Amino acid sequence: MTDKILVIGSSGQIGTELVMKLRQIYGSANVVASDLKEGSAEIMQSGPFEILDALDAVKIHEVVKKHKINQVYLLAALLSATAEQNPKFGWKLNMEGLFHILDMAKEKIISKVYWPSSIAVFGPTTPRQNTPQFTVMEPNTVYGISKQAGERWCEYYFNKYGVDVRSLRYPGLIGWKAAPGGGTTDYAVHIYHQALKTGDYECFLSENTTLPMMYMDDAINATVNLMLADAEKIKVRSSYNIAGMSFSPKEIAASIQKHIPSFTISYNPDFRQAIADSWPQSIDDTVANKNWGWKAAHDLQKLTETMLTNLK
Ligand code: NAD
Ligand code: SER
Repeated sequence: MTDKILVIGSSGQIGTELVMKLRQIYGSANVVASDLKEGSAEIMQSGPFEILDALDAVKIHEVVKKHKINQVYLLAALLSATAEQNPKFGWKLNMEGLFHILDMAKEKIISKVYWPSSIAVFGPTTPRQNTPQFTVMEPNTVYGISKQAGERWCEYYFNKYGVDVRSLRYPGLIGWKAAPGGGTTDYAVHIYHQALKTGDYECFLSENTTLPMMYMDDAINATVNLMLADAEKIKVRSSYNIAGMSFSPKEIAASIQKHIPSFTISYNPDFRQAIADSWPQSIDDTVANKNWGWKAAHDLQKLTETMLTNLK
């Protein structure tokens, strides 16, 4: 059977790049993008698109039926900073959207689900260096709580109903094709834009706030490789740790200064500092590496070169 894929929340930072990669692999006509709003010109012109609300189960069923969809990638969510400002709605969107898709898989209307989790599932009591796959998890943000609950439900639907659901705990993602959508790690995208535009940047995190990060290409490769892997290789049905690089605002600024010596950074931490302080500084991804061969390709130096070259 030909795989027919629906991506929900396709107009955001990840969807903008993931849809194009999926269209390369599965054929443009077989990957339906969908969101509350239209996507990039590239997405709108290269294949099918539907206006779709992740909270509207009836419309999702209609779209799935219309396009004979058998796989769903559910990206629609409120991210950490936005959810903290609207906790009740963050919980509603992040949980109800997931249940609609897991239930469709339980009813065998679709056969495979991708749902992203986050390093936000960890909290202040988690070991912060080389955070293991299995460890203490007491998230203290609404986003982290929703992602942790989502992971538990994914594993539950796999164990109880045999739902083939797969997930990655993305670190902060950095790409040049689309703007980030309201996370705590967004500074690491904004800084490159500002470096080229004005030559200075005021950071909302303090200079030594180290967080796990990843170049978007690595995240997209991890996603498609996880989804293409044989089911028996997927031993973790909650969500896999994946690691790229770790750096602080001071370190990313220094890497930019190697290319733009006059670049300056200042620090004005806001409410996002407390979120960042509750998250790991680096991630141990040996389980993903062992199970399905995951390995990142980009380090900070390569990331900075790629971002500056493409944004210019
Ligand atoms: P984003 O905010 O850039 O994009 C989300 C998209 O979902 C937006 O285009 C938005 O219009 C759409 N959307 C919002 N509500 C919707 C609804 N009700 N119905 C349909 N679409 C809706 O987010 P992103 O960075 O692309 O993240 C996608 C997923 O990956 C999220 O689940 C997020 O938690 C997860 N994630 C992202 C990162 C990151 O650094 N970007 C890290 C960890 C996890
Ligand atoms: N980049 C995301 C955020 O900051 C991590 O899940 O919310």
